[in-house]
Amino acid sequence: MKIPFPVKESVIARTSVRNYSDQVISAEEQQALEAFISDLDNPFARQVSFHFLDQTHVQGRETLGTYGVIKGARHYIGTTIKPEPQALEALGYELESVMLYLAHRGIGACWLGGTFNRSGFASAMGIGEADRFPIITPYGWPAAKKHIKEIMMRKVIKADQRKNRQELFFHQDLHTPLAPAEAADLDFPLEMVRLAPSASNKQPWRVVLKDTDCHFYEAKEPGYSDRFPYDIQRIDMGIAACHFDFAVRERGIKGHFDIDRKPDLQRPEHIEYVFSWIRD
Ligand SMILES: Cc1cc2nc3c(=O)[nH]c(=O)nc-3n(C[C@H](O)[C@H](O)[C@H](O)COP(=O)(O)O)c2cc1C
Repeated sequence: MKIPFPVKESVIARTSVRNYSDQVISAEEQQALEAFISDLDNPFARQVSFHFLDQTHVQGRETLGTYGVIKGARHYIGTTIKPEPQALEALGYELESVMLYLAHRGIGACWLGGTFNRSGFASAMGIGEADRFPIITPYGWPAAKKHIKEIMMRKVIKADQRKNRQELFFHQDLHTPLAPAEAADLDFPLEMVRLAPSASNKQPWRVVLKDTDCHFYEAKEPGYSDRFPYDIQRIDMGIAACHFDFAVRERGIKGHFDIDRKPDLQRPEHIEYVFSWIRD
């Protein structure tokens, strides 16, 4: 897939939108979005399925709740995967591609992994039991202001902040912070990772630059994924892969992802290897 937007601008423009105006999404805009989605792929070679819902056409809409987190949204996209290894990363990668596309168009959206009525949306979207249904997003034109609950949520999870690069990026091992000069042309892709969204803004990505390759680790928050039948932070790892990949491709830096290049490094507790980016 060709990236049809400037990466840095779209990464910066993307922010969770939880309050929507009643301005309609035009048929052309909807068609362009669907065309973009039908072209998507991911480096994890797993299938991600997208399900569109216009909730004005749903009878019994009261089951489509988001616990008061989302207001005024009419359109939703649901995403499903099979319960296979790397499918959560693939979902993170593909849906974040959509989030950046929407941000570039000025359309709002918001990752929802917890605060939605899963069974209500599953039945409205025709999603079967065999599929895993981790995430939906509303999308639409943003309202002029955030709603009160949203403002409070953002404060609690410090949604406007990100960890410093010294906490996220390392050189040769998982202890030595990576200086920008050592990162060289990978400094920009790493900065794009740093600005990514993540569940509860926990930012679990840790990256080690070892020789010329980047190894991506997940700093698993103990207990955090216990209320899900899967590790939701794996989706955050896929989002990181999306930002990194779009940035290297835009800069013409050649490399590929590989899930089987775990380096022999001492790992602090709760840090798990997920995938590598190998420079070609
Ligand atoms: C996998 C994932 C799941 C999320 N689930 C929810 C959710 O259930 N409810 C919600 O309001 N926000 C959810 N978010 C949004 C995050 O809270 C948000 O991305 C983060 O706080 C950073 O804020 P920003 O997106 O405005 O940059 C989720 C984000 C991700 C990546």
